[in-house]
Amino acid sequence: MKIISSLLIYTTTALSCVAANPTFTVDASHPAGKVSPTLYGLMTEEINHSYDGGLYAELIQNRAFLDNATTPVHWSVVNDNDAAATIALDPTNSFNDKLTTSLRLTVAKAARNHPAGVANSGYWGIPVQPKTSYRASILARADSNFSGPVTVSIMSDDGRTVYATGKFSGLTMDWKKFEVTLKTGKVVPTAKARFAITLDQPGTVWFGLVSLFPPTWNDQPNGFRKDLMQMLVDLNPKFLRFPGGNYVEGDTIETRFEWKKTIGPIEERHGHQCPWGYRSTDGMGLLEFLEWCEDMKAEPVLAVYAGYSLKGMHVNPGADLEPFVQEALEEIEYVTGDTNIPWGAQRAKDGHPAPFKLNYVEIGNEDWFDKSKSYEARFAQFYDAIKARYPQLKVISTIGNDQPETAHVHSRKPDMTDEHYYRSVDEFIRMSPEYARQYDHHSPEIFVGEWAAYETSFPPWNKRSQNEPPTPNLKAAIGDGVFMVAMERNSDLIRMQCYAPLFVNVNPGARQWRPDLIGYDAISAYGSPSYYAIQMFSRNTGDEILSTQGSETSIQGSATRDSRTGEIIIKLVNPQATAETLKIDIKGIASVASKAGAIILTGNLDDSNSITQPRKVAPVTTTVRGVKPGFTYTLPPTSIVVLKLKAR
Ligand code: AHR
Repeated sequence: MKIISSLLIYTTTALSCVAANPTFTVDASHPAGKVSPTLYGLMTEEINHSYDGGLYAELIQNRAFLDNATTPVHWSVVNDNDAAATIALDPTNSFNDKLTTSLRLTVAKAARNHPAGVANSGYWGIPVQPKTSYRASILARADSNFSGPVTVSIMSDDGRTVYATGKFSGLTMDWKKFEVTLKTGKVVPTAKARFAITLDQPGTVWFGLVSLFPPTWNDQPNGFRKDLMQMLVDLNPKFLRFPGGNYVEGDTIETRFEWKKTIGPIEERHGHQCPWGYRSTDGMGLLEFLEWCEDMKAEPVLAVYAGYSLKGMHVNPGADLEPFVQEALEEIEYVTGDTNIPWGAQRAKDGHPAPFKLNYVEIGNEDWFDKSKSYEARFAQFYDAIKARYPQLKVISTIGNDQPETAHVHSRKPDMTDEHYYRSVDEFIRMSPEYARQYDHHSPEIFVGEWAAYETSFPPWNKRSQNEPPTPNLKAAIGDGVFMVAMERNSDLIRMQCYAPLFVNVNPGARQWRPDLIGYDAISAYGSPSYYAIQMFSRNTGDEILSTQGSETSIQGSATRDSRTGEIIIKLVNPQATAETLKIDIKGIASVASKAGAIILTGNLDDSNSITQPRKVAPVTTTVRGVKPGFTYTLPPTSIVVLKLKAR
């Protein structure tokens, strides 16, 4: 299929229309606008086990035994023929009013060579790495006849190999926290492992919370998985939109992201049901999100709960909504307040005295789904309260140009509107040349807060898409590429954009949505072709937009300049299955260095990356020679190319 972009014809018969002189013209005589310095960022929520079983490095699944009210799921008994243990939930013996149950382990028979106890299977395995220290922390009490010792081990899932082990004793009838460091030796990395707690004599022990952390990013306690953090840092993100997405809204008002329940020590966090069908530990709480931003040198885009939940519930604007407005104001105070005011002091108590920089607050998520049409008034109430106390903050409406004008907020002028695009690759190829062109550039700035191209027959929200691989293939990356060049061409207005969802745990049963940018299991992670496409863009931004024009070509592209170095950066996307030799005409420059850098992502349309082939589709850097203000360049079939030219 060919798009003759100057004529804007998109037709299946156009293949017969031979491109006589495909040209891509860049006007470098003057900038057409400023590239938004915050254009490339990340969007995140708890979906597909993004945090629990993902970025949040906790290794024990169901660590507080609250995932199921009747059964200690993910826990099993460790026994052999000469040992006898049983386990059960015991809500009558809970650690506090947040961890409302405990696990009772009763060992009736055990000996040194026949220990008995309980084991956790982790999030689809416990990752074992060589020469690594793991921190176990366990809240426990015992009956009067037992004080220890208790053995904790990381062992193979068949129980035959112990990779690391340690002991604690001194249990009493009162709850106490025990900490043990487990060190592995020279082992072959594996996730076919479990975490076991065993006794070698009879006794009864209750556990309130069992936690196990591997080394984390920056050694942060309650921190993040290192490999995933490195992949995020490599994307050079300028902001992080959190905590949703649907996760901020919850299925019901009670199961919204209630930030006050997500702070403080982990034993004070009850967790909550997440709208994606599983329970969140809330180990990844408000402070962790903020520290995550800090670690990436990205600024937060804080989505606050705005009185709409997914099962169609809404809070009436006015007095009913006021407590939720206060909750949002206090949340902003927690993020930004000095330590001499209550929520700033709480943040300091939680371990972070320095306030965080905050510029953006988003009021809810996708509020066009609210059939009561209450968003206009709900937004106004939040907007007025936030502006009264924090006039410098930019307040974002969740209803943008992808929704009918009649649905937009009119009584207030949002500083920014959020539009979401989950579109097929073909749809992105069709819509991108004209995207945002007709927008009024005096209207509120635009945040494309969720977008992704899908290459499958079913859209991401259709359950049948779950039969497809969790991460997108190169074809989808081509769809992402054409949309990204469109956003970049218009980035004087499109100030921020982020792909969604960011993460997927690839284990069957762990995921709810495809496509997703980064896939992982307990021990490995990989970027999809779309990940690399975004990385190529976000690491090569420039600060001036240059206007471009494609003629007699289906290539879509954008161009920017780095005003400090004079470097011209041209991004081109070839959606065709054939190579295209393109004349690149740069107007308004005297000369250019004859050698340019090129970063190329290409392959077959259905090529993709996976746990076993993590870099099948990955960018390659090469040098282009013979570069002039007018030169020809051949784009490989189905490719995304970033050219970096030194103008003189
Ligand atoms: O990204 C997945 C979901 O898509 C988000 O939670 C929601 O905002 C959108 O509908």
